Amino acid sequence: TDKIRIAIDGPSGAGKSTIAKNVARILRMDYIDTGAMYRAIGYKMLKNNISIDNLETLRHMLGDTEIDFSDGNIILDGEVINERIRTPEISKIASDTSAISEVREKLVALQRNMAQRKSVVMDGRDIGTNVLKDAEFKFYVTASTAERARRRWLELTEKGEAIDLKQVEADIIQRDHNDSTRKLNPLRKAEDAVELDTTGLTIEEVTQRILEVIKWQS
Ligand code: C5P
Repeated sequence: TDKIRIAIDGPSGAGKSTIAKNVARILRMDYIDTGAMYRAIGYKMLKNNISIDNLETLRHMLGDTEIDFSDGNIILDGEVINERIRTPEISKIASDTSAISEVREKLVALQRNMAQRKSVVMDGRDIGTNVLKDAEFKFYVTASTAERARRRWLELTEKGEAIDLKQVEADIIQRDHNDSTRKLNPLRKAEDAVELDTTGLTIEEVTQRILEVIKWQS
């Protein structure tokens, strides 16, 4: 087919989503933020007071959940939830929730469906290894823990959140651990992914490298 799928995976705070958004804009593809989907589920659980131990209720909730992307918005059951899911509390619950098989099954099915209709840039943790195993292009984007913590801290501080850099770093280390040690589709580099260490690089530089790889390989 003429559809192109670009998978971008990596740990929290490596700059994946900004880079993926840039690449999608330049190549005129759709951008799908799979982390936002796990966050949306976490947000809904928190809002409805559903704990991850309550599988029966969670299953019911999942059957009754709609997630959509439109014009750069993330929409949960008709409600735009963009900024509401970008809090440390939701980061934590999203990471916990993402280890549950029912949640992954539902979201992975949605993600594959989205990639069937159009050319996409999809970012997450398991896109190259699981969701789009046969993607035309795969990237694994990393950065040192200290740099990722600094970027996340800056992002939160700019939003007016009073938070300690040490706390942000501790959260990132915890989330890396959760994401790479869970049994179901843990975070890891796909064998055929191009690895990019973004420590010390600007978003523009990383975006350019990705575009170059795509040009060479097509
Ligand atoms: O990328 P982001 O930080 O928004 O993702 C939130 C959480 O969702 C991650 O910590 C991870 O646990 C989970 N996630 C996942 N698989 C993906 C994307 C995100 O498990 N493809």
